[in-house]
Amino acid sequence: MRISVIGCGYLGATHAAAMAELGFEVLGVDIDQAKLEALAQGSVPFFEPGLEPLLKTHVDAGRLRFSTSLAEAGAFADVHFVCVNTPQRAGSQAADVSYVDAAFGGLAPHLREGAVVVGKSTVPVGTAARLAELVAGLAVDGVDVAWNPEFLREGKAVTDTLHPDRLVFGTPSARVEAVLREVYATPIGAGTPVIVTDLATAELVKVSANAFLATKISYINAMAEVCDAVGADVTVLADAIGLDKRIGRGFLNAGLGFGGGCLPKDIRAFSARAGELGVGSAVALLREVDEINMRQRQRVVDMATAQLGGSLLGRRVAVLGAAFKPETDDVRDSPALNVAAALHLKGAQVTVYDPVAVPTARRMFPTLGYASSWEQAATGADVVLVLTEWAELTTLDPAAVGAVVSARNLVDGRNCLDAARWRAGGWTVAGIGRP
Ligand code: UDX
Repeated sequence: MRISVIGCGYLGATHAAAMAELGFEVLGVDIDQAKLEALAQGSVPFFEPGLEPLLKTHVDAGRLRFSTSLAEAGAFADVHFVCVNTPQRAGSQAADVSYVDAAFGGLAPHLREGAVVVGKSTVPVGTAARLAELVAGLAVDGVDVAWNPEFLREGKAVTDTLHPDRLVFGTPSARVEAVLREVYATPIGAGTPVIVTDLATAELVKVSANAFLATKISYINAMAEVCDAVGADVTVLADAIGLDKRIGRGFLNAGLGFGGGCLPKDIRAFSARAGELGVGSAVALLREVDEINMRQRQRVVDMATAQLGGSLLGRRVAVLGAAFKPETDDVRDSPALNVAAALHLKGAQVTVYDPVAVPTARRMFPTLGYASSWEQAATGADVVLVLTEWAELTTLDPAAVGAVVSARNLVDGRNCLDAARWRAGGWTVAGIGRP
């Protein structure tokens, strides 16, 4: 069995390498020539721990190749995984599925009899059924469409792909289920729960899982606001409620909230799709989840402003962390960069440092100042904000930072620092939902 992977971003490049790791011959397809040239040399054009060595091993062994041609993919493979992105549509809350449509529509005329096209992209429910009709109209007989959502996290993409919590197969028939079981037979499938279902349920599993995770984060951030009002501690509260097995401690870290290419746009797209289906009120809570999340960014801006006595004009601000979370250089909808840009707009002189995300941040916000070390960013600063919990930043020494700043004001936007230690070092510390 040979495999093609259409779309070689975070999801597709990782999936292609993982499929090669399972022993399949794999062809990765993308429209971005520069990205493919890098991948073909075993180099990953974004930061994802562990991906490059895996990719390079299989490129060097000749098991993994890349191409821009959907016709080549159609002739080459028996199973095609579509991993293109579905960003938020400009001027709308809905998802832009044009890349998915182009992948399925472009591939269909080249498919061989018996081929299975498996969607992995996150799509509005109902998309798979529509694509199955599209493919049926363009392809030879005996071709099927399936949906196999992907739950990987950036920064942990390789581990999540090779050791998933569960596999979800949305399939139209027993034949397609058997094909997917063969793909995932070992080692991924060994001991991993497999849920076999229809196309719509498979699509919904993904969006509702992401909506639930987003809801957990906004719930704890709402509790943080209440904690702030009474001087209670949200981190202790999260530990205590998280010990209830029905609740669980995961995704209960209060702070700047969620960002990235998935959770924010997925909850908006889910709301938009539910509205189209006439059940918008069923997911009305997701609007509140989004609002609470966006409010965290303003709260952090307000905290920094308050520490400087109400005005940021001409003040020097060090923003430590730019990525939307640690272990990635992804700055899409990054809460950290959003806060940095808001402080800049209020007249502050902002310098941003991130262990890996400075180049991607600079491309998105070229007018901010950037530094190549925390020390350079913090030198002369009136306030320091830690906004992404990279290990390099959570282990900073209060005395070392204190030696270069002009005032010891700290905003811990991720509740990731030992506030008592910083206070003992003479710092004024503001956190989220902490006394
Ligand atoms: C998410 C889902 O976890 C993954 O299953 C899906 O496939 C894609 O979307 P990802 O976007 O990579 O993955 O990041 P994730 O680790 O889920 O974090 C999302 C955001 O939530 C980050 O900005 C993170 O900082 C924030 N977060 C997470 C919190 O604010 N608090 C928490 O307790 C956990």
